[in-house]
Amino acid sequence: MSEVFDAVDVIITKRDRGELTDPQIDWVIDAYTRGVVADEQMSALAMAILLNGMNPREISRWTGAMIASGERMDFSSLSRPTADKHSTGGVGDKITLPLAPLVAACGVAVPQLSGRGLGHTGGTLDKLEAIPGWRAALTNEQMLAQLDDVGAVICAAGAGLAPADKKLYALRDVTGTVEAIPLIASSIMSKKIAEGTGALVLDVKVGSGAFMKSVDRARELATTMVGLGKDAGVTTVALVTNMQTPLGLTAGNALEVRESLEVLAGGGPADVVELTVVLAREMLAAAGRPDVDPAKALQDGRAMDVWRRMIQAQGGDPDAPLPVARHTHEVLAEGSGVLTQLDALKVGIAAWRLGAGRARKEDPVQAGAGIELHAKPGAMVRAGERLMTLHTDTPERFERALAALEGAAFIAPEGSRPDLLPLVIDRIA
Ligand code: URA
Repeated sequence: MSEVFDAVDVIITKRDRGELTDPQIDWVIDAYTRGVVADEQMSALAMAILLNGMNPREISRWTGAMIASGERMDFSSLSRPTADKHSTGGVGDKITLPLAPLVAACGVAVPQLSGRGLGHTGGTLDKLEAIPGWRAALTNEQMLAQLDDVGAVICAAGAGLAPADKKLYALRDVTGTVEAIPLIASSIMSKKIAEGTGALVLDVKVGSGAFMKSVDRARELATTMVGLGKDAGVTTVALVTNMQTPLGLTAGNALEVRESLEVLAGGGPADVVELTVVLAREMLAAAGRPDVDPAKALQDGRAMDVWRRMIQAQGGDPDAPLPVARHTHEVLAEGSGVLTQLDALKVGIAAWRLGAGRARKEDPVQAGAGIELHAKPGAMVRAGERLMTLHTDTPERFERALAALEGAAFIAPEGSRPDLLPLVIDRIA
């Protein structure tokens, strides 16, 4: 790093709607990672970026600088192509669990680095940790060996991958700067590109339970990320998908593992199966295997076989009973008619309050806590029928969870049609 800048000049450039130069971007990311640029300076810059944006060149350079802050993994020694999926996060989004073994069963290796949940969206690692014995931490060598042998790995990202992003994401979380599209896109793509996958499918969620509340913003994020992937030589496709209502019929760690097992056994809720198969098709096509039909591998048990081996390879017992919460509470329909709305955000917050999620990074989660849905929008319900079952180990949490669910479900007179967006709203390639 030759040139040195003054952090205040960099902040002022962006504050005054200027463009950051490539050397400025390289310097500020490197200097922040090394602790030379202070947190308060980076927060001011992040806020200036949130307010004034960045152009495609700046976003691409920013992403490159974050990748360069750490190691890059390399899976080119594997005999099969690689593909990964990233979801921007939603309520009941357990798709990675059936998807990774499914794609591996179709001949494409899946190196999936995942995270833990924060706030109302769950984290894939928290879900898998509900399985007795399963561990998230693998060395790079263990990850490569498992990819070679089993074909699928879901594990925690090591500290060496895009360390600039780890620091910056934690800072954005406490400074109201998470929502900037250039920062979200560079954060996600720096990790995915550094991870070394050959192909990437992005599931950009839109709706109350997602980061992106409008289809236009979701499209903008998707287009930005697809551009970054292509610039880096990764075949990248994005689907914009519906997160107005939770995915499937469960939100909560062990509950979602149970539902994923139903999908791997050839059953499960229609929306989870549909999205799993659609994303698998995209991953296989992006990895150069467009002719393989993933729906078959779900039905004939091949995906389940890979799941079992994937769980066992990381110390988990695929046959062990999953944790069950000690207390349940049923929410009943207040009237009869058509359920036209079941708000993802409210369900996500309630599941979080029941103990399925955490408020701070270091908080523990309850494996059995969460919400089971007994009806989804479009279904007919009768007064007094169960709409949801709440699960927790700590029953004093029911009251706040019920408060979060206030107004979550809307029942309209019989014959009403819910105004639902399709599950897959758009595809950007
Ligand atoms: N997920 C990430 O990894 N980064 C963001 O900025 C937002 C979501």
